Amino acid sequence: MILVTGASGKTGRVVLAALQAHGAAARALVRTPQQVPASEVILGDLADSSTMAAALQGVDALYLIMPNMHPHEAELGAAWIAAAKAASVRRVVYHSVLYPQIEAMPHHWQKLRVEETLIQSGLDFTILQPASYMQNILPYLPSIRAHGEYRVPYAVDALFSPVDLEDVAAAAARVLLEPGHSGAVYQLAGPEVLSSAEMAAQVAAHIRQPVAAVHQPLDSWRFSNAHLPAYTRDTLAAMFAYYNTHGFVASSFPLAALLKRAPSSFADFMTREII
Ligand SMILES: NC(=O)c1ccc[n+]([C@@H]2O[C@H](COP(=O)([O-])OP(=O)(O)OC[C@H]3O[C@@H](n4cnc5c(N)ncnc54)[C@H](OP(=O)(O)O)[C@@H]3O)[C@@H](O)[C@H]2O)c1
Repeated sequence: MILVTGASGKTGRVVLAALQAHGAAARALVRTPQQVPASEVILGDLADSSTMAAALQGVDALYLIMPNMHPHEAELGAAWIAAAKAASVRRVVYHSVLYPQIEAMPHHWQKLRVEETLIQSGLDFTILQPASYMQNILPYLPSIRAHGEYRVPYAVDALFSPVDLEDVAAAAARVLLEPGHSGAVYQLAGPEVLSSAEMAAQVAAHIRQPVAAVHQPLDSWRFSNAHLPAYTRDTLAAMFAYYNTHGFVASSFPLAALLKRAPSSFADFMTREII
């Protein structure tokens, strides 16, 4: 049995579907009752130690997905790793992020601390470090279609190597279900280096409508996102400032090796997800 945390989220659902496609038994931890592609669903708060113990009962492997922008991810991750040890879980795969060592991005730095705890835990582990997902553009589509603008709070020529979440999930299933990945740390980046301007041009060609990438100043982004919790808003702003200066690019070599095929291009992703 494989336990997947954060199971109702963007990542959790796709990882569960990949495991289901392999016929693997998976238990999904969710905090509100809902349909997810899993053989078992367990209800509970991810931050509650009694939930951890109950969810880990009879589990061989834990796929640890932490909530996006959790202010206490380092401590929460350590608690999950300790609970997995106490429950004699054989293996832990941690869903981290590309370049967790970037201190300027607080959520990356927290993930680095979780990685450190896991590496030193004595558990059999694998760490996956995905780049930003291609799917992150999907919530922007209604406004792209309505206004012909893809508004991002960083330079439109900053470079990324976006990865298809379906490929990330396929890689996750592979490291969970086949031997040979103990102690591995894999970056999972897509096959192309693209700016937001280039992504906008590809979307424009795909939807046959003019689309321009537009740089929204960070102060204006902060103002229009004043409703977000302070940690989330400040951490996102720090991430956008980092992207603005450095972009977020890595090699797709480890992902291609894991998938044993070329990872999906942005065009492949659009053909599948954007009608
Ligand atoms: N997005 C990217 O491009 C990207 C790239 C690399 C790594 N990552 C990492 O991937 C991870 C997952 O991201 P995501 O985009 O899939 O996040 P998401 O869609 O926000 O999903 C997070 C899930 O965690 C659940 N959750 C939050 N607090 C909980 C609690 N206290 N107890 C139980 N469940 C709780 C949420 O449940 P509810 O539905 O009930 O709120 C949600 O289902 C994050 O750690 C993120 O940093 C993301």
